[in-house]
Amino acid sequence: MRNFNDLFDRGAALVTGASRGLGYELALQLAERGFDIVLSGRDEKALSALAEKLPTKAYVYSADLSVPGEAKQLYKRIKADGIELSVLVNNAGIGASGEAWIVPEKTDCDMTEINVNSAVTLTKLFLSDACGRGYGALLNVCSVGAFQPGPYTASYYASKAYLHSYTLAIRHEAKKYGVTVSSLCPGPLDTEFFEHASAKKPKGAMPAKKAAEYAVKKFFKGKKTIVPGFYNRLARVVPAGIKTRFIAKIKRN
Ligand SMILES: NC(=O)c1ccc[n+]([C@@H]2O[C@H](COP(=O)([O-])OP(=O)(O)OC[C@H]3O[C@@H](n4cnc5c(N)ncnc54)[C@H](OP(=O)(O)O)[C@@H]3O)[C@@H](O)[C@H]2O)c1
Repeated sequence: MRNFNDLFDRGAALVTGASRGLGYELALQLAERGFDIVLSGRDEKALSALAEKLPTKAYVYSADLSVPGEAKQLYKRIKADGIELSVLVNNAGIGASGEAWIVPEKTDCDMTEINVNSAVTLTKLFLSDACGRGYGALLNVCSVGAFQPGPYTASYYASKAYLHSYTLAIRHEAKKYGVTVSSLCPGPLDTEFFEHASAKKPKGAMPAKKAAEYAVKKFFKGKKTIVPGFYNRLARVVPAGIKTRFIAKIKRN
């Protein structure tokens, strides 16, 4: 595995979903460590405001990743502008809550497009370049929801389980090319995520800044699965069946 310090002067870091929440904080953390940053999302105003704040060079690329084909276009646009990416953070994501048959089909389709298809497309394009060159680092933002089924958030947990499994598999494939691949699995975060998913934010949700600081530190160490928060890490030893029943109980009420 290549030392992360080698990556600074070899390219920028693309962070999707950087306009707010966890992506915003991850972009700040990476910039503080010396990376130029490519910020992506739909809210250009928020992205430009963040670009002004960053201590390194920042580029803004708006993209709606719920639109099929947009992820590919985003990567192409960045490359066409001569920006080399040494780091990719697939962070953009949405959730949805409620009984599976009540969640609108369009919401499920958008979620699959953003949380899974766009992340997979960007991963493929990035790895094709990074593995060819022999360096790079990829962080896919999943969730503790990836570790068991999630009643009343069925599609969201399934989307994160897909991305987590995919990420751990390609970690093995990319390693021999000098490319690091990690899965970030946060628990509940104090962001606008729940509001956008029509869900109630759990008490004790972790500040996004705290999760991002922990995540980037572990990412730089090449850790496979990064779980911010002691109790979230502890919960990993609880059997999936028990956790699923617990989730069903608390989300039903
Ligand atoms: N919040 C939690 O409790 C939690 C827990 C575990 C994992 N996560 C994961 O962490 C990631 C970040 O979530 P967050 O908590 O920071 O949520 P958030 O505050 O709602 O931010 C979501 C980000 O995704 C972007 N996004 C949403 N729809 C998009 C679209 N159609 N095209 C492009 N970008 C889009 C948003 O940017 P625009 O609106 O500008 O497009 C925004 O920057 C997600 O992958 C989420 O699943 C969150």
